[in-house]
Amino acid sequence: MNRQKSYGQGNPELAAYVEDLFQPTDTTLAKFADRSREAGLPEIQVGAMDGRHLEILSRLVRPQRAVEIGTLGGYSGLCIARGMAPGGKLYMFEKSEHHAAVARENLSGAKESGELKVEFEIISGAAIENLANIENEGPFDFVFIDADKQGYPAYLEWAVTHLRVGGVVIGDNTFAWGEVHRTAEKSGRDLAMVGAIHEFNRRVAQHPLLRGTIFPTAEGLTVGVKIHEL
Ligand SMILES: C[S@@+](CC[C@H](N)C(=O)[O-])C[C@H]1O[C@@H](n2cnc3c(N)ncnc32)[C@H](O)[C@@H]1O
Repeated sequence: MNRQKSYGQGNPELAAYVEDLFQPTDTTLAKFADRSREAGLPEIQVGAMDGRHLEILSRLVRPQRAVEIGTLGGYSGLCIARGMAPGGKLYMFEKSEHHAAVARENLSGAKESGELKVEFEIISGAAIENLANIENEGPFDFVFIDADKQGYPAYLEWAVTHLRVGGVVIGDNTFAWGEVHRTAEKSGRDLAMVGAIHEFNRRVAQHPLLRGTIFPTAEGLTVGVKIHEL
């Protein structure tokens, strides 16, 4: 278990209790993480309990059409896919060709073994340049954002436009490593990153088409539900 991404807000004993009780990592997820590490990918996939949170949120929504922005080796994608309606499709955006290739290999293996029951498509390249290519497949039920932090506000606007009412948009790392409330003290690259995450949270909180919150996971998981059309 990656204790740096442990469940909760700072009590390691409670985190260990929850992780030991719920056992969020199974052999398939462990294989995804191992294969990604062997292929040289950075170990920046969602924490194990956040993978479980994504699966639970996905099971609640039961998406037919879901979008993931920032795929890495496919770990969080598998968690989302597990909650999707049979026959659904997950559109995955990943800037790095290498990360996309590893994710494709991991997910294809899960499909062959019958573990993955939905279709998936990995679109490599910068997400903001490619999202327009799937707009005709919408509206979408579920959008998970976990790529470049500066892009979060733009990804949010895309999601709100292309979600159905009742659909959800989720952003990871939205406590900005414990710094999100300190934008006034930031400058340069730090301000660009932390400020963009703050702007994302602000828009989810104040958007007239959304009802939102930040679930207090270790890294902050912002969730907005679309409650109206324009
Ligand atoms: C934190 S990792 C994603 C982890 C993944 N969601 C998981 O939990 O298994 C962020 C990923 O976003 C990708 N990325 C960065 N900038 C991007 C962009 N502009 N468009 C699409 N993907 C991007 C990175 O290459 C990296 O693989």
